Amino acid sequence: MGMRVAVLLLVVSVSLTEAAGCIPTTSPWCYKNSTLPEEDFMCKWEKRNPKENQTHTLFIRDSEKKSLIMCANSGDHSEKYILLEELGITSINMDIWVQTQVGNLTCNSSKISVILECLVKYSAPQITRMKRSAGTLSLKLDKPKDNKSVKYEIRWRERSSEWKNATFETEDSKVIQDSYKLQLQKQTIYQIQLRRQAKLQPHLCKDSLQTLWSDWSPVVDVPLEISLPLVRPLVEQWTNGTRHINLTWDEPSAEESVGGVWYKLSVNVWPCEKPKRKEKPTLDRTYKTSITYSEARISIIATNKVGSSPPREIIIPAVKHLSNCDKPSNFTQDYQTCLEWYKLENGETRPSTVNSSGKKSFKDIEKGVEKFVRHYYFLHIMRKKHLQTVDMCPFYSEQGAPIKGPGNVNISNVTHESAVVSWLSIPVAEQRGFLLHYLIWISGQGNTTLHEVQANETSFKIKNLHPGTSYTVSIAGETMAGKGPNSTVNFETHSEEMGLSWQDQTILIVCVVALLCTIICSVAVRRFRSKLIPKVPSPVIDTSEIRCPQDQVSNTNC
Ligand SMILES: *[C@@H]1O[C@H](CO)[C@@H](O)[C@H](O)[C@H]1NC(C)=O
Ligand SMILES: *[C@@H]1O[C@H](CO)[C@@H](O)[C@H](O)[C@H]1NC(C)=O
Ligand SMILES: *[C@@H]1O[C@H](CO)[C@@H](O)[C@H](O)[C@H]1NC(C)=O
Ligand SMILES: *[C@@H]1O[C@H](CO)[C@@H](O)[C@H](O)[C@H]1NC(C)=O
Ligand SMILES: *[C@@H]1O[C@H](CO)[C@@H](O)[C@H](O)[C@H]1NC(C)=O
Ligand SMILES: *[C@@H]1O[C@H](CO)[C@@H](O)[C@H](O)[C@H]1NC(C)=O
Ligand SMILES: *[C@@H]1O[C@H](CO)[C@@H](O)[C@H](O)[C@H]1NC(C)=O
Ligand SMILES: *[C@@H]1O[C@H](CO)[C@@H](O)[C@H](O)[C@H]1NC(C)=O
Ligand SMILES: *[C@@H]1O[C@H](CO)[C@@H](O)[C@H](O)[C@H]1NC(C)=O
Ligand SMILES: *[C@@H]1O[C@H](CO)[C@@H](O)[C@H](O)[C@H]1NC(C)=O
Ligand SMILES: *[C@@H]1O[C@H](CO)[C@@H](O)[C@H](O)[C@H]1NC(C)=O
Ligand SMILES: *[C@@H]1O[C@H](CO)[C@@H](O)[C@H](O)[C@H]1NC(C)=O
Repeated sequence: MGMRVAVLLLVVSVSLTEAAGCIPTTSPWCYKNSTLPEEDFMCKWEKRNPKENQTHTLFIRDSEKKSLIMCANSGDHSEKYILLEELGITSINMDIWVQTQVGNLTCNSSKISVILECLVKYSAPQITRMKRSAGTLSLKLDKPKDNKSVKYEIRWRERSSEWKNATFETEDSKVIQDSYKLQLQKQTIYQIQLRRQAKLQPHLCKDSLQTLWSDWSPVVDVPLEISLPLVRPLVEQWTNGTRHINLTWDEPSAEESVGGVWYKLSVNVWPCEKPKRKEKPTLDRTYKTSITYSEARISIIATNKVGSSPPREIIIPAVKHLSNCDKPSNFTQDYQTCLEWYKLENGETRPSTVNSSGKKSFKDIEKGVEKFVRHYYFLHIMRKKHLQTVDMCPFYSEQGAPIKGPGNVNISNVTHESAVVSWLSIPVAEQRGFLLHYLIWISGQGNTTLHEVQANETSFKIKNLHPGTSYTVSIAGETMAGKGPNSTVNFETHSEEMGLSWQDQTILIVCVVALLCTIICSVAVRRFRSKLIPKVPSPVIDTSEIRCPQDQVSNTNC
């Protein structure tokens, strides 16, 4: 704005002083891009004359000898690139000015008197990396072109407040980047920018006014440290051996998102030898993929401009193990296959490391695993990116008979003719094979009967017992390989005489109560008579009012 006004005023003044005709440019400023000795120079100035057809000539003169070193015509451009060769020496004091020609008029800018060697203007620094943690912002900056140690000025502010500044110098060293650590308040977002300045030869460049700052780097927003993304429960869909998952995660806070947040996913959904798949960094906060029935792991790292969160690992557990299933199918198709197998720890749990192979077949592994121990296997296939589990089963290389009988065998609900036997199922590790059923022997009075009960049951009602008889119950599990040891318990049925049904017991109680009432009533009536109407000869009491319960219970069959 100010510029425009100035130009306008100049235009006015020029047109007024038409006679002058030629208005000089600003005095030139010259610099080179680095302290390197082979660097060329650039001189720039600003035109003040709006007229066309003006030509500029840059003059450089030895200040002491007053001899011209060079002059160069730049046409109507307001800058001139000067080759080092044209200058020769650069470490002496020189006068530099711009002569402007308009028509047959010429005019000179004011002169500057400088040592060109001391005029170094670096490019504006670039922040290559920012990392914020625990109140410290660590900055990495590109080195200046000459890799020299330099002086920086950094300034920072909370949004819409005053800049604060500091300067620092870097060391001459072989590191590839300059770095700086700035202390900031933890929970505040900032803006920062930097500029830099060459460190010049002290004997030559005593005049500190000559040292030039680079331009400021662009203002950069500094967000807060990013926190671990909170991953929402996944929506799952199961079809024919494939699980479709859709992960979504929460948006980080606005303070963390300044300057953008992106996510890196590392996906491990194929159990066979294949490195983790790294997804391209994404801005999306959802991820959709298909996985097998086996365990899958996906880890997500959120990254903003000042760093990355720790990885959030999501483990999608394998589907519940089957306890039994048909023989593995004979799968011989051209898809990429993956066989995965493991020993079920304590008979049921997946261990943390599992075996897998893309080449072996089920037959290869079946005989190799430990005998009498339940293992589990999956067969997965991959077609393009579609993963599918075509088989999953528990298996044994060889089955054995159970090594234990069922635990906690208990008899309850004993009557004169029945009882209920219950037990705890044999733990899988002690079954040592697939349990076919339980065998229950009931022995009493020299007779033994045998029952088979399904392997998933844990109680059985024994019927048709004789009253008052003692029995022995033996119970054992059986696999393909044979019977396990017995767990045994004894009991005695109730005798029939003792055994009153609850109806009988109720009737008995009612009778006793009735009898007691009868006695109390008759006593009470007798007392009443003798106290209230001792000498009245004829009793006038209505017998229907004081009725003895005797009449009521008279119907009952006691
Ligand atoms: C300084 O560097 C800039 C950008 O790299 C380039 O355009 C310019 O010509 C260079 N100036 C000199 C004097 O080398
Ligand atoms: C500028 O110079 C060219 C020839 O050099 C001439 O043709 C043109 O008319 C001039 N323009 C003005 C505004 O003087
Ligand atoms: C400049 O040139 C013009 C013609 O192009 C002429 O009329 C004028 O007198 C000249 N002025 C000077 C100072 O030489
Ligand atoms: C510009 O400066 C040079 C050298 O000092 C001088 O010879 C020339 O006359 C000057 N021109 C004007 C218009 O002042
Ligand atoms: C901060 O900036 C002010 C004004 O530009 C300046 O006077 C002061 O020296 C600077 N402080 C530092 C430490 O650079
Ligand atoms: C599952 O597979 C069967 C047979 O291959 C097919 O008929 C059925 O449509 C499939 N179900 C789904 C949901 O894909
Ligand atoms: C994933 O689930 C979210 C909600 O849970 C839904 O908004 C989104 O559309 C789903 N993405 C896909 C690709 O189905
Ligand atoms: C497996 O499949 C092949 C070809 O499909 C067949 O010849 C073979 O008998 C099958 N084996 C079993 C055990 O089913
Ligand atoms: C034992 O009998 C009671 C009722 O008399 C019944 O509720 C319970 O289920 C029975 N227990 C068993 C194990 O059958
Ligand atoms: C053995 O059981 C059978 C059939 O229940 C029965 O007929 C027989 O009397 C029993 N023997 C003894 C000694 O109880
Ligand atoms: C045992 O499995 C059979 C089917 O195989 C089922 O009908 C029965 O209800 C199961 N019993 C228990 C106690 O789960
Ligand atoms: C379990 O008891 C039954 C009946 O008493 C008997 O026949 C069987 O041999 C016993 N089994 C073992 C392993 O002792």
